[in-house]
Amino acid sequence: MTGHVLGVVGATGAVGQKILKVIDERVKNIKALRLFASARSAKQKIAFRGHLIEVEDLEKANFAGLDYAFFSAGTEVSEKYAERAVEAGAVVIDNTNAFRMRCDVPLIVPEVNFHAIKPHHKLIANPNCSTIQMVCAIAPIHKVNPIKRIVVSTYQSVSGTGTEAIEALKTQSAQILNGENPTVSVYPRPIGFNLIPQIDVYIPESGLYREEEKMVNETCKILESNIAVCPTTVRVPVFCGHSEAVNIELTNEMSLDRVRNLLAGAEDVVLIDDPANSVYPTPLEIQDKDEVFVGRLRRDMTLPCAYNMWVVADNLRRGAATNAVKIYCKMTENCK
Ligand code: A2P
Repeated sequence: MTGHVLGVVGATGAVGQKILKVIDERVKNIKALRLFASARSAKQKIAFRGHLIEVEDLEKANFAGLDYAFFSAGTEVSEKYAERAVEAGAVVIDNTNAFRMRCDVPLIVPEVNFHAIKPHHKLIANPNCSTIQMVCAIAPIHKVNPIKRIVVSTYQSVSGTGTEAIEALKTQSAQILNGENPTVSVYPRPIGFNLIPQIDVYIPESGLYREEEKMVNETCKILESNIAVCPTTVRVPVFCGHSEAVNIELTNEMSLDRVRNLLAGAEDVVLIDDPANSVYPTPLEIQDKDEVFVGRLRRDMTLPCAYNMWVVADNLRRGAATNAVKIYCKMTENCK
């Protein structure tokens, strides 16, 4: 049989489920598919292309025979198991923060820096969701007119945190609508009808939260440039889809039309931009899409060479599953 033996670690989770969906949509030939999760889900059966596949307990798993493995079960799980999978012969495409900044691990957005993967690389990192969508939108501009500085504010949905957070938003919203006090879970504050300007842990040296630090470091690594990145990342009561208000300062003056044309011609970037008619992307409308959507493109009237844009993407697909599967597709040419 042609194709590869594929593995999905974290197959029962929010990102793992999307990876299975995108594999089903895109991958042509699959020799076998193996699914891994915690002991809680072992023996659960998941349907895939007409077969019921039993979930394996990751702790007891033998990785021998795996050709490619997608890891999406959290940083600690990747730290413990991803390199074991590589030692067993698999190429690992890792969705967590475990290896992104390691200099021997390429950090890949396929449309932007696929060239960074060399034949000896067996461990490949998928960037953070908020970085992926921003980089997709700014890379086409950066290529012809280097970006000097980025100021970005994010509006990130709860699905980025996983299934527990999706449930927390549902529960807390219902509690508030019923006049009850919301139970606080998953996040340090209620997320129902609220905004939380904290994503991940606090880093005292910089005053940033870890999500913001990821955007700074990952953007520079992917774009191979020392861009100044100034982020504020905010969790919002949206189930799926991250939005970002992005301000970029370029090296040289450029007409707005030229910026627009660069975005219009970019792979997997879709311009939805007619502000006079209230036409712009919103997270609800771009769910289940693989592209990055850009609207509100305009000059920053306070600074020469600076532009603003509104960037929206499905964080589970474009910001995670699709990015990871596209890496596999480009490496193997085994996709539709
Ligand atoms: P399980 O469903 O058995 O808990 P999400 O991000 O949506 O919360 O999903 C996390 C995914 O990672 C799930 O598939 C979950 O499996 C899996 N996972 C979490 N912790 C572990 C672990 N220690 N070992 C293996 N898989 C894990």
